[in-house]
Amino acid sequence: MEHLLNSNVKDIQISGIRKIANKAASIPGVISLTIGQPDFPTPSHIVEAAHQAMNAGKTVYTPNAGLPELREAAAAFVGARYGQHYNANDEVIITNGASQALDITLRTILSPGDEVILPGPIYPGYEPLIRLSGGIPVLVDTRDSEFKLTAELIQPHLNERTKAVVLGYPSNPTGRVMTQEELQDIARLLSGRDLFIISDEIYSELVYDMSHASIATIEGMRERTIVINGLSKSHSMTGWRIGFTLAPAAITQHMLKVHQYNVTCASSISQYAAIAALTAGVDDALPMKEEYRSRRDYVHARLTDMGLPLSKPEGAFYLFPSIRHLNMESMDFALRLLEEQQVAVVPGSAFSVYGEGYIRLSYACAQSVLEQGLDRLESFLQRL
Ligand SMILES: Cc1ncc(COP(=O)(O)O)c(C=O)c1O
Repeated sequence: MEHLLNSNVKDIQISGIRKIANKAASIPGVISLTIGQPDFPTPSHIVEAAHQAMNAGKTVYTPNAGLPELREAAAAFVGARYGQHYNANDEVIITNGASQALDITLRTILSPGDEVILPGPIYPGYEPLIRLSGGIPVLVDTRDSEFKLTAELIQPHLNERTKAVVLGYPSNPTGRVMTQEELQDIARLLSGRDLFIISDEIYSELVYDMSHASIATIEGMRERTIVINGLSKSHSMTGWRIGFTLAPAAITQHMLKVHQYNVTCASSISQYAAIAALTAGVDDALPMKEEYRSRRDYVHARLTDMGLPLSKPEGAFYLFPSIRHLNMESMDFALRLLEEQQVAVVPGSAFSVYGEGYIRLSYACAQSVLEQGLDRLESFLQRL
């Protein structure tokens, strides 16, 4: 019966991140530097808020768009932090993580044949969702622009089928962050055009040495931008599944229909926990960020010493060094490193064709684990 299945689904590949992580799981003593989630516990006051909600019987459906108090808190949070102002009544949807936010966004805006411009290398979540909606991902090679999408790189790909441009900064896998000026260049190119911008800002709270800028704050951009954010990375809440979308009411009302028939609402208990995160816990990410910053500096220095060249990433919790000089495919490199030194890293090829020639290391793990993992990586490189 398999031949009867939707060919868009059959064509989707399992993510390269999962492939390595599954293999690593069966190896005793493995050091995994593949982790895409914070290694800190969810702050205890958030967990307590969930307990209270459960005990108070707040275990029923919430409004489709999410609890009004949570939508207010989400709008207030991004308003205060990033200067984006959204109406909690009709411009915010609380979703099951940023993943579902991306899904409802793409399903709302795409018709078959529409093109979506994306910077490559990129987080593997987008391409399959675009294809499931009948859309066509148009990957732009950002390897020579410090992994940043620029107006110059976007321009040749714009045509009447272009429906959206994705900006995913701070970037997974590269850790690169766009400056306000760089976003302004893109805004100048895109303003007045009939297309959307999807700005995935899930790592916005994890930006070091500079401040996070959102394209939605630039004149002429708010009306065409769908901002995606959430609590998975900022509040170490990956398993709670809380994300949100911020977009003009005219777009949000249609996204809400997709969301409603897809999931009805996000988990009520998680939503009560999220209210605590976005009110009493607005600064919860700060101590975690300081820890990440010091790990980033450590890993960057170690990789540089090992001869794996890269400039220091400004955000998220990943480094993306080049291994091109070793003349090995990134999957072969990752598999050999796993077999010979029991260290798991993600091959760059998991992040589109433009990730080939790189590996992704995550520093969302304890300093002692990082030290051991990097010692083993160093031995591996010495023996190559
Ligand atoms: C760039 C990016 N967007 C979205 C997501 C999905 O986040 P969530 O766990 O909130 O669904 C991730 C998760 O790793 C990510 O890296």
